[in-house]
Parts: sequence; structure tokens; C-alpha cells
Amino acid sequence: NQKAIIFDLDGVIVDTAKFHFLAWKKLANDLGFDFTKEQNEELKGVSRVDSLKKILNWGNRELTEDEFNRQMQLKNENYLSYVNKMDKGEVLPGVQKVLDYLNENNTPYALGSASKNARHILEKIDLKDGFNAIVDGTDVSKAKPDPEVFLIAAEKLNVAPQDCIVFEDSVAGIQAANKGQMTSIGIGDKKTLHEADYIFSDFTEISIEFLKNLLQK
Ligand code: BG6
Ligand code: MG
Repeated sequence: NQKAIIFDLDGVIVDTAKFHFLAWKKLANDLGFDFTKEQNEELKGVSRVDSLKKILNWGNRELTEDEFNRQMQLKNENYLSYVNKMDKGEVLPGVQKVLDYLNENNTPYALGSASKNARHILEKIDLKDGFNAIVDGTDVSKAKPDPEVFLIAAEKLNVAPQDCIVFEDSVAGIQAANKGQMTSIGIGDKKTLHEADYIFSDFTEISIEFLKNLLQK
């Protein structure tokens, strides 16, 4: 069977959490409360709108619909000011080696991200052309842990979900991959991501040998 890989973007290919943190912190501070790194951790894989809902909840604030939308827009503008400074150098260690292997072996790979900025980020880091399919926050109606984003990616790749291998750094993303009957590989903390089929701290820990075996299973 033809196998395929699906990559999450934020936290897997690039570390954008640090930029999300700065932008959410500014929003919270402007609204008069603080925002911590620990809280930022809880927003991994969470959509923009759900993130703002959680933050307002933590800060005990309610906003009108108009103000809510305005804050979301301001946050994204601020976030993009950091994203726009990104280049190839932001690709996390070990990722390129895996992409090179997939390219050399004609293994199809897709992006499955919750971000509405995903295509723009891929352009900034010069990886957009390699992907056989890109599914992002503008293509889905149900957020992770719903498997929708990955199932659409599998369909676009024309590969059965059971033959897809997903790289994810968020708990919601691992759950989404598992619900979609896909092989899940967690990138990050072993305890946090224990539901994944395999877990690595980062891509430098993933050997080509491991990948080869997985793709030939
Ligand atoms: C996910 C990130 O990939 O995308 C979340 O882990 C982020 O932190 C979400 O909120 C939505 O991203 P964006 O770029 O559409 O605001
Ligand atoms: Mg992620």
C-alpha cells in the first residue's frame, strides 16, 4: 500500500509558539491581565477563536462580539509581524532531513494544520512547493481533536487513512490522528503525548531507518 506522511506545522516544522505567546501576551496585557507560558502551552493546536475564548476566561473578561473580533484581528496582525521575519533558518532541526528522504523516495506528504496562516508560513520558510496537499484552518469546520483536517489531507493525497503517518506536537492533534485510524507520532514531551503510537523529543531523534521501516510496514 502507498503510505503517506501528514505534518502538523506549528510545533512540528517550526516553533511559532514563541510568537503566539508574544502576541497573546500583548492582547492580555492590553486588556489588563497577565498571560503565562504555562497558559500558552495549553493553546497548542487550539484554533484562534477558541484560544481567545480560553484567554478571556482566564482573565475573567467578557467582550462584545465586535470587540472579540477586533481583538482577534489585532492579535493576528501582531503575530504576523513576527512571522514575516521568518525564513528557512526557522525550520526545526532534523525536519529537512526527513523531507529530503520523502522527496527522494517519492513518498507523498501533506500539511494538516489548524492555522489560517499555514500557507503564508510555508512560503516564508520556503517549503510550500514540496507538499502534495495543504489542509489548514481555512479548510476545516471541525477543530482537532476531530480528525477532519487529517482525513481531508488523506483524501487529497489519495491514500487510505490507515496508511497515513501523522507528526504532531499537540495532544488534540494526536487524538485527531488516532481517531482517524492513522499512525500517530508525537513530537515533544513523553508524558504529555503518551497517547501517540511513537514519541520523540524532536526530529533529530528520528532516524531514516525508523522512517523506512514505518513506510514499509
Ligand atoms: C495551531 C497552533 O497550529 O494553530 C495554535 O498550535 C494556533 O497555537 C492555531 O492558535 C491557529 O493558528 P492561526 O495562525 O490561525 O492563528
Ligand atoms: Mg502543533
